[in-house]
Amino acid sequence: MPYPTDRPRRLRRSEALRSFVRETRLSPEGFVYPLFVCPGEGVRKEVRSMPGVYNLSVDEAVTECREVKALGIPSVILFGLPEEKDEMASGAWDRNGIVQRAARAIKREVPGLLLMGDVCLCEYMSHGHCGIVDTSGSGYSKARQEADAFVRELESRGKRVIKVGTQAAGAATATELIAPATAEDYEIVNDATLELLAKTAVSQAEAGMDIIAPSDMMDGRVQAIRTALDGSGFENVPVLSYAAKFASGFYGPFREAADSAPHFGDRRSYQMDPANLREAMREIELDLEEGADMIMVKPAMPYLDVIREARTRYDVPLAAYQVSGEYAMIKAAALNGWIDYQRVMIESLLCIQRAGASITLTYFAKEAAKLLA
Ligand code: PBG
Repeated sequence: MPYPTDRPRRLRRSEALRSFVRETRLSPEGFVYPLFVCPGEGVRKEVRSMPGVYNLSVDEAVTECREVKALGIPSVILFGLPEEKDEMASGAWDRNGIVQRAARAIKREVPGLLLMGDVCLCEYMSHGHCGIVDTSGSGYSKARQEADAFVRELESRGKRVIKVGTQAAGAATATELIAPATAEDYEIVNDATLELLAKTAVSQAEAGMDIIAPSDMMDGRVQAIRTALDGSGFENVPVLSYAAKFASGFYGPFREAADSAPHFGDRRSYQMDPANLREAMREIELDLEEGADMIMVKPAMPYLDVIREARTRYDVPLAAYQVSGEYAMIKAAALNGWIDYQRVMIESLLCIQRAGASITLTYFAKEAAKLLA
């Protein structure tokens, strides 16, 4: 006979009472702020689809980090936009790469801020995939020949073929851009990629990264990275693996921010199918066996069930990445006056924590920290 004895509304009568019985207390202590570091000096270029998020040159990134630390945010994660891209992602593991230079500068100028390095190759590969691409498959060559023939035919009819994005996209010819896109046409080579990832992780640790965060989704990468770190004297540098990373449409704005969209195909052969919760648990389990110290679920809000399940099953620190698309949607709705911006931002972060994440990577970190202060 609960009612009228039980009246849950008794504890909701005032903010004093509500705050007293609150189960989840949002604070910036678990926030990680993502930064996109680019070449140059004094560069602060806003990302079109992410208002309030910028490509920052190293000096500007340092300034940003000072502010981040002052706001009580403990950590930043660094992504890099290299001067040049190639087929071996040299910029990712270059000891003097953009991210490595930024890490050194931030370590020196803003001591005490936890530096997280995103270990992936897509930003540094001319084709935008997270691993080495093998295009020797006949499907690719055949489609490539067809594309070449198509361009020749257009030219023979007097049409001018503009070689779109030859520089930014790193594509050699226009034919690259109409190259085939089916999985049989090319392969993202797993094991050869591990070597590059391991080199990237070691170069980041050398540059002063406190936490190594692999986001590529190759099989065995945590083990490869752990072994390489240990072999180079970095046995105390922890790995936070993007263990359950889904092939998500919510990464769209990030790919603009980091100039890392694949030029053909998609990431479905390495990132996970959004439909699979059990497989996510298996991915996490494997990463822990390989030596991950912390795990991540990504994206966050559409995957709260995955966060909850991971929290229930595994006793390691759990992170969630509130990704670019989640940020962009809330921003866009707010800019249109369709939602209460601050309220929705805080609610989204609170709910990610309630689901079980104690660490949240979020583009809202600075704004939320100001509101929570
Ligand atoms: C690199 C990487 C991506 C994100 C983090 N690391 C992009 C991707 O996998 O395409 C996405 C972050 C975001 O959307 O905010 N692989």
